Amino acid sequence: MPILVAPSLLAADFTRLAEEVAAVEQAGADWLHLDVMDGHFVPNISFGPVVVRALRPLTKMPFDVHLMIAPADPYLAAFADAGADHLLVHPEAGPHLHRTLQAIAALGCKAGVVLNPATPVAHVAPVLDLVDIVLVMSVNPGFGGQKFLDSQLARIADVRALIDASGRDIRLEVDGGIDAATAPRCIEAGADTFVAGTAVFHAADYRQAIEGVRGGAA
Ligand code: DX5
Ligand code: ZN
Repeated sequence: MPILVAPSLLAADFTRLAEEVAAVEQAGADWLHLDVMDGHFVPNISFGPVVVRALRPLTKMPFDVHLMIAPADPYLAAFADAGADHLLVHPEAGPHLHRTLQAIAALGCKAGVVLNPATPVAHVAPVLDLVDIVLVMSVNPGFGGQKFLDSQLARIADVRALIDASGRDIRLEVDGGIDAATAPRCIEAGADTFVAGTAVFHAADYRQAIEGVRGGAA
């Protein structure tokens, strides 16, 4: 599988969002990662569907919408309608993960399950038939710019084994502290898709930063 890179808008210059989106698309980004936070599920607040909708006409990149909100179910349709392509939910955000994933599919979006650093990998096993993306958090969600947690490498390998056993076409994405140094270690463990906020948007050269994460010429 080709390695995909999804810059996280959270680290962009919010006074120039349109330019930042165009710049990462030009620089070869595959997806745009959008971190939605509610100040309740995670200790930070970011943005909602209105920002997703405003950005949608500006780019062809698939929108990888990471919902750090609880409950998530009442807002799935709003994000799908605003232009989300992927809706990623945490199992802890509601009591009925299976139903949530069915609802995402019914809205025509790809469905992702996000594993916090302490969430057992086994939580995703029973619903793998409804999942297009498994996202392993390599930091605690809520903030950009945190240090990569080495403890997540073994869990990436565990998710890889589950995906391979399923025989399904599922992306294994990693989010948090990803850069040209940490991404290759995740690739070795079985990851194929990367979220990178600080490493891309705080770099002088976005293309070089994206290719660095991808493992190409840095
Ligand atoms: C953290 C978010 C991440 C964050 C990553 O809650 O889910 O997507 O933006 O930022 P970096 O790449 O700076 O760790
Ligand atoms: Zn994220």
